[in-house]
Amino acid sequence: MKAIVITKYGPPDVFELKEVDKPVPGDNEVLVKVHAVSLTFSNLFLVSGKPFPLRLMFGLLKPKLRIPGSDIAGRVEAVGGKVKKFRPGDEVFGDLSRCGRGGFAEYVSVPENELGLKPANSSFAEAAAVPEAALVALQALRDKGRIRKGQKVLINGASGGIGTFAVQIAKYLGLK
Ligand SMILES: NC(=O)c1ccc[n+]([C@@H]2O[C@H](COP(=O)([O-])OP(=O)(O)OC[C@H]3O[C@@H](n4cnc5c(N)ncnc54)[C@H](OP(=O)(O)O)[C@@H]3O)[C@@H](O)[C@H]2O)c1
Repeated sequence: MKAIVITKYGPPDVFELKEVDKPVPGDNEVLVKVHAVSLTFSNLFLVSGKPFPLRLMFGLLKPKLRIPGSDIAGRVEAVGGKVKKFRPGDEVFGDLSRCGRGGFAEYVSVPENELGLKPANSSFAEAAAVPEAALVALQALRDKGRIRKGQKVLINGASGGIGTFAVQIAKYLGLK
């Protein structure tokens, strides 16, 4: 299969389109044909290696991960023997940042617990835009901000990935 691979830190020029082995799903994994993937901030850190302290997590001299890409949406192609939640043909989306990423590829193998069913009324591109940005917005407002219905909130950067979700979540939660 084709994948976008990185072997060193740097500007976007370090991305290389390569032919790599198609992954084989383990017992608890789902093989997903990737239809859409987001370019999120965490991938920017992973590729640039900046700011430097993040290299303690991503690899000191070169990236530990070969294939970036965390927020994906796609269709289940095959499932491992112990998978219960999904079957081939299901449309799914999820955040692969806790399970090795690998979304910048035609296929990725993902533990079933990292995926959810894609809402039928969302396109693959819309679903792939959700995981990191929407979760950070939800955590910021609900968990860290402990907002309550009727309060007023100022969202700085409301036109960005996280900000656009923050505006919608704030509205949904009854904020002014
Ligand atoms: N904690 C986490 O897990 C996590 C995950 C992802 C991102 N983040 C952080 O969250 C922040 C936003 O991420 P994002 O993905 O939403 O980024 P983004 O899509 O690039 O959006 C950035 C937003 O900030 C606005 N902005 C830029 N400079 C500004 C300034 N000087 N004053 C006011 N607004 C300004 C931009 O406005 P314009 O569109 O007008 O330029 C845009 O609305 C980043 O700092 C990122 O590192 C944290």
